[in-house]
Amino acid sequence: MENLTPMMKQYLKTKEQYKDCILMFRLGDFYEMFFDDALTASKELEITLTGRNCGMDDRAPMCGVPYHSVDPYIAKLIKKGYKVAICEQLEDPAQAKGIVKRDVTRIITPGTVNENTLLDEKENNYIMSLFKKGEVYSLAVSDVSTGELSSCQIIYGNTLEKLINEVVKYKPKEIISNFDTKFLKEYISVYISDVTEDIFDMPFPLISIKSKIKTNDFDIWRNACAGLYYYLVNTRKTDLSHITSVYVYEAEKYMSLDANARDNLELTENLKDNKRYGTLLWVLDKTSTSMGSRLLKKWIEQPLNDIDDINLRLDSVAELKDKYIIRQELMELLKSVYDIERLVSKTVMANANGKDLIALKNSFYKLPHIKELSSKLQSRLCNELHNDIDTFEDLCTLIDKSINEDCPIILRDGNLIKTGFDEEVDKLRKASHGGKSWIIDFEEKEKERTGIKKLRVSYNKVFGYYIEITNSFIDQVPNDYIRKQTLVNSERYITSELKKMEESILGAEEKLIRLEYEIFCRIRDTVAASAEKLLKTAYSLSVTDVLCSLSEIADRYLYNRPNMVSACEIDIKEGRHPVVERMPNCPEFIPNDLYINDTSDKTLIITGPNMAGKSTYMRQAALITVMAHIGSFVPAQSATIGITDKIFTRIGASDDLAGGKSTFMMEMSELAYILENATDRSLLILDEIGRGTSTFDGLSIAWAVIEYLNETRSLRTLFSTHYHELTVLEDKFSGVRNYFISAIKKDKDIVFLRKVKRGAANESYGIEVARLAGVPEQLIVRAGEFLMELEKSENKRTRIRKKESFIEGQVGILEFNKQDNGYQEIVEILKQCDIQKMTPLEALNLLYELKNKI
Ligand SMILES: Nc1ncnc2c1ncn2[C@@H]1O[C@H](COP(=O)(O)OP(=O)(O)OP(=O)(O)O)[C@@H](O)[C@H]1O
Ligand SMILES: [Mg+2]
Repeated sequence: MENLTPMMKQYLKTKEQYKDCILMFRLGDFYEMFFDDALTASKELEITLTGRNCGMDDRAPMCGVPYHSVDPYIAKLIKKGYKVAICEQLEDPAQAKGIVKRDVTRIITPGTVNENTLLDEKENNYIMSLFKKGEVYSLAVSDVSTGELSSCQIIYGNTLEKLINEVVKYKPKEIISNFDTKFLKEYISVYISDVTEDIFDMPFPLISIKSKIKTNDFDIWRNACAGLYYYLVNTRKTDLSHITSVYVYEAEKYMSLDANARDNLELTENLKDNKRYGTLLWVLDKTSTSMGSRLLKKWIEQPLNDIDDINLRLDSVAELKDKYIIRQELMELLKSVYDIERLVSKTVMANANGKDLIALKNSFYKLPHIKELSSKLQSRLCNELHNDIDTFEDLCTLIDKSINEDCPIILRDGNLIKTGFDEEVDKLRKASHGGKSWIIDFEEKEKERTGIKKLRVSYNKVFGYYIEITNSFIDQVPNDYIRKQTLVNSERYITSELKKMEESILGAEEKLIRLEYEIFCRIRDTVAASAEKLLKTAYSLSVTDVLCSLSEIADRYLYNRPNMVSACEIDIKEGRHPVVERMPNCPEFIPNDLYINDTSDKTLIITGPNMAGKSTYMRQAALITVMAHIGSFVPAQSATIGITDKIFTRIGASDDLAGGKSTFMMEMSELAYILENATDRSLLILDEIGRGTSTFDGLSIAWAVIEYLNETRSLRTLFSTHYHELTVLEDKFSGVRNYFISAIKKDKDIVFLRKVKRGAANESYGIEVARLAGVPEQLIVRAGEFLMELEKSENKRTRIRKKESFIEGQVGILEFNKQDNGYQEIVEILKQCDIQKMTPLEALNLLYELKNKI
């Protein structure tokens, strides 16, 4: 340690405080990394590893990135799950006495990034704080880049399950907590940061609380908020003054969707590659701003549970759907509105540059027109939005007068402030410009005075202004020229006159840049002071944008308004699958009805061949229900939707080998979970339960499940199956209804009719579907032969079974014993009679005689 260079001592002292981060240490024009950080970064960023003398025997491993293009490197490290601390030079190295002062000014973690280049504009970037006290939990979640802060406490029921559902809803990038949360990695990929527990017990600063929750006996939401607040402010050095309020809610306020349901229904991410394509969000998103797009995603991720809240949205969608011209105008105007939320956050965090303020100004220009248009809307929600939109004329004028339209992105490059805004800026600018034209005149004057045509006055950073004369004219150089530098072909000189001017030009330029920067910061602070109002307007614009998008879709795709009711029933006429019908390869989508309630039509058993559309039909029911709860119109002729508290799905085969669960084990644990957590208001989608094991085991489980759903519990369920035996349950339980999706066989081919009908299917057409899929013909033929064999023996078995049941005397009207004498006598009489020769009357008499013998 003793021998270390002072710089290296400074580095190690800083690194000691940020052990969990990769420390980027500013040295001149580079951010350098040393030791282990250098080894990691050079590997992850694919940059060259070098070394630096540090006073020890071995050189310190080192690598670096240029300061002006650091963002992509940070982004790469964050994406790979590292935290980055930026250590800046706090004083001008030229003026520093001894070693330059340095300190960490910024820490970037997956949950706290705020740079545009590191963020997805259509996605929120959440950081979450979780707090546990006994069996109750609370959480606080914030998107630092937009100023959003929400908090919720989970006190009743299966609290852990509810907590997990909230976590998967937000999919935070980073989590802090006062308990072990590693298990959450099973559900989402997230960075878990270590924190000390005491931050959760600190007093949470008073900011306004937007929605008060009913229960006052607990307010542990404050602990989660405090944890988050102190982590961000103290550890991560994030300015939070743009977070002006916290929205506190109860988890029950929203429809509960677990990770499985979210995935299977492909609400915002598809199953294939977690992208938007082919999701409900993909269909519904016609928003004009990225703020709107983010909000729509949020609405889809948390469908409402309250009829009045849903109707409030539906009323506005209905109004905007009808008012075509206003809607089109609004959508057009919104297209020119920038991401005010993120711009404001950047402004507050002193990250915004001139271009950002110009973007704000250009957005402000649209506000009066948007406000005026929204005044023409009558629905309550639109009215509220209208009142919340501010037009910010003052800020708009201020930015317009002060900030140069074509200012550079870098703040210290000057050319930020418009001429005419500030007298001092104008004076300095004149001096600097005037100085430059003086140089041009000076060059001309010197050429004339010396007679050297090739004399040139130039500038570089090291020597400032100088006169350059090529070697061939050296003897003509006047005596007052002072030689400064000798090059191969020329000499460089200065004069006292030139030096004086240089001081005044450079002085003016430096002063100008500093002054422009100061003025810019003042203006930025003025904008930042209105953060709360700005964010309120931004939110109103986002809601307007989402409502426009929903009504545009409703209009374009012929959706209708769902009728929300409190009864436990869903009645859909001519429903369609919102996503399948929009896929480019879907020829024509066949609509279908659906009726389910909690008494007479509780369990719908859906049979039909492979590829018939069973899974589509069931998902469609779930998606229409979700859409209605979002406040969206639905793809159906009409739809009555009863408030549904949760949707569960058990779809398709999957296994979790890493988690130690086989396919069938997974299926059964999911089933157990669903049965434990579903309520009478839930909707269950069970797609082919029990198919992952032997036929009889599977069938028995499926049978028992349906019995349980009907007898023990009362759970509304859509149940698809290839076990046609299950359809007898319709006669056993009053709540079971059979439906099938038909297909017909034409020669070797199969034609899918896609129409859902009452009754049961009797064939699966698995082999025909295999042929359709391109399985080799030879194999298909063999499969056909096996099927025939199996069916034959199955028929035999069925006959025997029927006979047995007959013998056991369970069924049949002709109940008697084979050994009985009467039986033998009847058999004898029947054997002897010749039916061909009998008249009808004789036959009737014989029948009469036989009957008397029973
Ligand atoms: N109503 C419909 N109109 C048009 N196409 C449909 C309809 N329903 C389903 N399809 C098409 O049929 C395909 C197969 O549907 P689906 O996966 O729902 O069949 P399935 O009955 O569940 O088959 P399996 O028994 O093999 O699981 C879908 O991908 C879709 O393209
Ligand atoms: Mg299916």
